Amino acid sequence: MAAYLSEWLSLLIRWFHVIAGIAWIGASFYFIWLDNHLEDPPEWKKKKGIKGDLWAIHGGGFYEVAKYKLGPEKMPGILHWFKWEAYSTWLSGTALLFTVYYFGSSGYLIDNAKAELTTLSAALIGLGFIGGMLLIYELLIRSPLAKNGMAFGAVLFVLLVAVDWALFHIFAGRGAFIHVGAVIGTIMVGNVFLGIMPSQRALVETVEQGREPDARVERLAALAKLRSTHNNYLTLPVIFIMISNHYPMLYGHPQGWIILAAIGFITAFARHFFNLKHRGIYRPSILLACGIMTVTLIGAIAPPTGRQAEAAATAAGAPKVADADIRQLVDTHCSACHAKDPSNPAFQAPPAGIAFDSLKAVKDHSAQIMQAAVNSQYMPLGNTTGMTDKERKELGSWLQAQK
Ligand code: HEC
Repeated sequence: MAAYLSEWLSLLIRWFHVIAGIAWIGASFYFIWLDNHLEDPPEWKKKKGIKGDLWAIHGGGFYEVAKYKLGPEKMPGILHWFKWEAYSTWLSGTALLFTVYYFGSSGYLIDNAKAELTTLSAALIGLGFIGGMLLIYELLIRSPLAKNGMAFGAVLFVLLVAVDWALFHIFAGRGAFIHVGAVIGTIMVGNVFLGIMPSQRALVETVEQGREPDARVERLAALAKLRSTHNNYLTLPVIFIMISNHYPMLYGHPQGWIILAAIGFITAFARHFFNLKHRGIYRPSILLACGIMTVTLIGAIAPPTGRQAEAAATAAGAPKVADADIRQLVDTHCSACHAKDPSNPAFQAPPAGIAFDSLKAVKDHSAQIMQAAVNSQYMPLGNTTGMTDKERKELGSWLQAQK
C-alpha cells in the first residue's frame, strides 16, 4: 500500500511540476519573443516614455503591448510579476526529488558498484552538490568574472561538467542525471530569487519615487540581464535532462556523464541560434552543426548490431546457454521487481510494466533487456543482487540465440 500511495504522490507532484515548468519557461519564452519583436512606437507613445510596442492577435482578440524605457509616469495599481512560476517549479521539483529519489526506490540513486551509500548519505551528498553549486555560482556572479560574459559561460560549463562527472561516479546513472538537472534548475531559480527580483524591486522603487535610476539600480539591472541570459541558455539543457530520465540508453551508458555533457553543449548551442536569430542574425550553420553533433553522438553510443554481437560471442567461444539457466538468472536478478506481483516492497506493480513471469516474456522484451542489462549495467536497478559480467554475457548470447 505504501508503494502504491507513493506512486500516486509522485505522479501528482510530477504533473504539477510539469505544469509549473511550462508556465515558467513559457512565460520566459514569451517575454523574450516580445522583446525581440518590439517596433518603433508612434510619436505620441514615445512622449509617454514607451520605447517599443507591438500588436498581436490571440484567442479571438487584439492585444497591444508597450514596453517603457524606464517606467510609467505613475505606478499602475496592479503590476504582474511572474515569479511564482519559477518558485513553484523549483518547489515541486524539490518535492519530486525527495519522493522519487530520497524516499522512493534507492536503486535510482545508489549503485553499490560505484559507492556503497545509505539513502541518507546519498541524499546529503545530492543536496550538498545542489547547495554547493548554488553558492559557487552566486560567488562567481559577484566576482570580476561577471564582466566577461564569454569567460563566465565557459567557466560555468566546465564546472557543470565537473559536477556531472563527480555525480556519475557516485550515484546510479539516473540519480546522477537528475541531480545535474537539479543543480542547474536551482541556479536558475536562484537567478530569479537572488538577482532578477531584487533588481526589479529596485526599479519599481525608483519609478515610484519619480527618480532617475542611480548607479546601484543600473548595476543591479546589468547583473539581472546576465542572470537572465544564463537562464535562457540553460532552459533547453535542463528540459532535456528532465526527460532523459526516462531513457536508460543515455544514463545507463558506462560513459553517461560524457553523453550528458555533450547533450548539454549541443542544446545550449542550439539556443544560441535562436538568440542570434532574435537579434536579426540568421546563422543556420549553428543548427546544422548541432544536427551533425547529435547524429555523431547517436552513432557513437549505438549498441553493437546483432551481427557484431554474434561475432563477438563466437570469437569468445561462448557456450550455448540453456533455457533453465536463464530462468534461474532472471529469478535471481530480476523477478523480485519484474513480476506481476513484485516481492520487492518498493513496487506495487511491475516497473516499466515489464514482468518476467515466463521466458516468453523475457524474449518479448529482448531489445530492451539487451539495452538495460547487457549493453549497460542499468539493470538490475542498483545491482543489489550483484549480477556479474559473465551473467550479462550469458543473458546476451541467449537473447541473440532466440532471434
Ligand atoms: C530493484 C528492482 C529491479 C530489479 C531487480 C530489476 N529491475 Fe528492471 N526496472 C526497474 C525499474 C524501477 C524500472 C523502470 C526504470 C525507469 O523508469 O527508469 C525498470 C525498467 C526495466 C526495463 C525497461 C527499461 C526501459 O527501456 O525503459 C527493462 C528492460 C528491465 N528493467 C530489465 C530488467 C532485467 C533484465 C533485470 C534483471 C537482470 C531487472 N530489470 C531487474 C526495477 C528493477
